[in-house]
Amino acid sequence: MAHSESVLTMKKLHGKVAIVTGGASGIGEATARLFAEHGARAVVIADIHDEKGQAVAESIGSQRCSYVHCDVSNEEQVKSTVDWTVQKYGQLDIMFSNAGAIGKSDYAILDLDLSQLDHLIQVNARGNAACVKHAARAMVEQKVRGSIVCTASVVVSNWKGGDMTDYTMSKYAVVGLVRSASQQLGVHGIRVNSVSPSAISTPLSNSSGLTSDLVEKLFVPFTSLKGIMLTVEHIADAVLFLASEDSAFITGHDLVVDGGLISLPHL
Ligand SMILES: NC(=O)c1ccc[n+]([C@@H]2O[C@H](COP(=O)([O-])OP(=O)(O)OC[C@H]3O[C@@H](n4cnc5c(N)ncnc54)[C@H](O)[C@@H]3O)[C@@H](O)[C@H]2O)c1
Repeated sequence: MAHSESVLTMKKLHGKVAIVTGGASGIGEATARLFAEHGARAVVIADIHDEKGQAVAESIGSQRCSYVHCDVSNEEQVKSTVDWTVQKYGQLDIMFSNAGAIGKSDYAILDLDLSQLDHLIQVNARGNAACVKHAARAMVEQKVRGSIVCTASVVVSNWKGGDMTDYTMSKYAVVGLVRSASQQLGVHGIRVNSVSPSAISTPLSNSSGLTSDLVEKLFVPFTSLKGIMLTVEHIADAVLFLASEDSAFITGHDLVVDGGLISLPHL
């Protein structure tokens, strides 16, 4: 078979076992579906939105997808999700640590709501740390050369956060975690990377007031690439790349998926 043909037909995650946090919706849901399409033996959706998570798992199919209630800000729940996965499916190859939260208001520094900041640090920083820690422990124990991918954000790169102080702080922590953990886990053959999406209309972004109309108004004019809108499927493709052997020599990297976003003068 010619190389190009084999690449086109290849299932990139054949036989792999993956956990997707925040898999009940948006980027996580699209990635869970893509992982299953690419031959993952098992995809475990870990989320706090039980009804949605169960519905997504059922639609992917109970043969290859399960739902587990897991609040990532609770270390015990993260540990038992990883333990349950290893017990049920025998191993853990991929952790997509993607669950996230965003503030609703009062995130500009002069009005910063510190209890909201605490919540974002709990979910976005602490939650990712717990997921990386327990996934890596399972991989090290079983000598699995796994791949861990975290979801950061374009606020860490081109956008530089605008007025979203709390969210930006929590997402910088994610990139810091990825850089530090990747250095430590390389000796075990475990790769740790992040993906940084630009704005997409999802329940999370909508809850902070970023509706699809605003995405079009605020981001599209400043995106270099024209004639294409960012979708959750584009992010899932980037995560698949980082999760699979296609990125076998890439670790500690933050893959920005923003269509060449240039600075946003209004933010
Ligand atoms: N949508 C965007 O514009 C955008 C841009 C950059 C980064 N991100 C990041 O992408 C990730 C996914 O967000 P999305 O846009 O797909 O939103 P979404 O609302 O569609 O999905 C987020 C999911 O995370 C789950 N979740 C929230 N708190 C949780 C917790 N404590 N434990 C477990 N699950 C929890 C929610 O129930 C939901 O299913 C987040 O980390 C977000 O910060 C989103």
